[in-house]
Formats: sequence, C-alpha cells, structure tokens
Amino acid sequence: MSCVHWDREELAWERERVQADYDAWKAKGLTLNMARGKPGLEQLALSRELFTILDFDHCVEDGVDARNYGELAGMPCARRYWAQMLDVEPEQCFVGGSSSLTMMYDLVAKAWSNGLLHSPKPWSQLERVKFLCPCPGYDRHFRITQSFGMELTPVPMTEEGPDMDQVERLAADPEVKGIWCVPKYSNPDGIVYSERTIARMAALKPAAPDFMILWDNAYCVHQFRGEYQPIADILSLCAWNGSPDMVYGNTVP
Ligand SMILES: Cc1ncc(COP(=O)(O)O)c(C=O)c1O
Repeated sequence: MSCVHWDREELAWERERVQADYDAWKAKGLTLNMARGKPGLEQLALSRELFTILDFDHCVEDGVDARNYGELAGMPCARRYWAQMLDVEPEQCFVGGSSSLTMMYDLVAKAWSNGLLHSPKPWSQLERVKFLCPCPGYDRHFRITQSFGMELTPVPMTEEGPDMDQVERLAADPEVKGIWCVPKYSNPDGIVYSERTIARMAALKPAAPDFMILWDNAYCVHQFRGEYQPIADILSLCAWNGSPDMVYGNTVP
C-alpha cells in the first residue's frame, strides 16, 4: 500500500485510524523493546570471546599499534578487511567506530559545516537544502537530515528500488543535495535494487555539484532464502560515469 498519492482527506483519515490503533496498543501497557535487529542473549554469547581474545601480540599489525593514537582512517588491516567486504580498494575505505549511523551523521554534519569536495559553500550557508528519502524507508536516516533542518522529499519505492524517473526529475533541482539508499534488503520492505536502478543512480547528473548518494549497504553480506544476491558495484559505475565522488558507501559492523 502506498500513501504517496493520497489527498489531504485520505491522509487525515488514515492518521486517525493509525492513532487509534497506536492508542489501543499503548493502553495495554506493554514493555517490549521494539528496536530492530537486537540480538538475543544466546546470540550475544557467540561473540563473548572477542572481548578476551586480544593479547599484546595481536595489537600490532603493519607496524601500527592499535592501542595508540593516529590512523584516523582506521587500522590498515581493518581497511583491507572491510574493503573486501565492500568491494572497494583499501584506500577508499574508512574504518570508524562500531556505529555506522554515527559515521553517516558525521558525513552529513561535515557537508553542513564545511561542505564536501565539490561544494561551492557549506550547506549551512544555503537558504534551503532538500534531501531525497525513498519511502517507505529507514527512519533513522531521515532523522539525520531532518535534524539539520533539511527539507525531506519523499520518493516512492518500487519493486526495483526508488522510482528513478522521479529521482532524475528531482535531482535537476540544485537545492536537492542527496538521497538515502539501502540498496540490499532495504528497510522496511526488504527490496533489493535492480541492476537497472543502480545503473541509473550511478548515471545521475544532478544540478548540485556536491549531490551525495548515501549508499547504506548494511546488509551486503546477508543472505535470505536461496542464493546469495550480489548487487551492482555503484562506486565503479559512478567512476565510469565520471562522478567518482558522488557516492559514499558504508556497511554495518
Ligand atoms: C539500513 C541500516 N543502517 C544502519 C543500521 C544501524 O547501524 P549501526 O548500528 O551500525 O549504527 C541499521 C539497523 O537497523 C539499518 O537497518
């Protein structure tokens, strides 16, 4: 069901219905933790040894001591490891803390305060910044851009990913500075972007010179039902299309 094309009256009616539903659940006084993907105790126990496995010898790799300062882009061995996972070169890989959302936030904050490589000026100095949000999508992504006061522009999802006709049309507006994407098993519908969608995304010629594709490939190694499903390599495609700096990919540790 898509509500993108509903008129005001239909939206108001739906809001009332959903609110009544919500109130009924609230009245039950449940204390459930609804955070998605939260591992159970047995799953957490699987990684227990990670806390004690390190000894002094394992702290030094490539001559770099992991316990010390420096290496802002991450330990070289970690960059090699994650580069393999993301199908990029280690030099293109930045390894940070254990929350990818904080790294995405940082990137948007950097655009806001300083601007990106191709920004004429920091985004905070612009009258209006719009960001494309494929819907339904991941609320925590949307919240990041919303928290900077950006105008969130919904783009309907299709079975193949975001509606690329609309993305191409909207990207012609210089105030549109980027798009959130979860290309594999996108939340909440589990849609995998098709090759055609990814090719069109990489071939975008946005009006903003610093348009960013935030490519949150959180589920790049996941596999549900049947064969492992690879997706097209957007970094190479962007480079091939002459826009190597347009996409920022990440995954979840
Ligand atoms: C698409 C997506 N990105 C990021 C996250 C969370 O990432 P992290 O825990 O690394 O901040 C989630 C968790 O549900 C997610 O679904």
